[in-house]
Amino acid sequence: MIRLEHIGIAVRDLEDANTLFARLLGREHYKVEEVASEHVKTSFFQVGESKVELLEATHPDSAIAKYLEKKGEGIHHIAFEVADIHAEMARLQAEGFQLLNAAPKRGADNKLVCFIHPKTANGVLVELCQSIPNE
Ligand code: CO
Repeated sequence: MIRLEHIGIAVRDLEDANTLFARLLGREHYKVEEVASEHVKTSFFQVGESKVELLEATHPDSAIAKYLEKKGEGIHHIAFEVADIHAEMARLQAEGFQLLNAAPKRGADNKLVCFIHPKTANGVLVELCQSIPNE
């Protein structure tokens, strides 16, 4: 693992949350991106070498919609950057962590991502992410 890449926060209203986090962090978000496959709309704030990712559900079937229903707004996941996501997935699986996807999938912010089940990580949903080089 290279560094804490971002903290993902589930919000009910992305526009309201963007305004609030701009006031909190003293800067504007630098991008908004919809990930259609995950039924989420995200926005990103740079904070030093890490980021805050705000996530709003775009469909009732979205994992974020279910999370909000069960737990309300708040920290949804933490993401660590890795150099080789396939190698890290194999290492963590061998260590007994349960991976939520068998192969890396395309996430927001030009990343390959994989999630680890919170029940095998002290209740924390952990995301591994690897940057995809710009073509
Ligand atoms: Co994330």
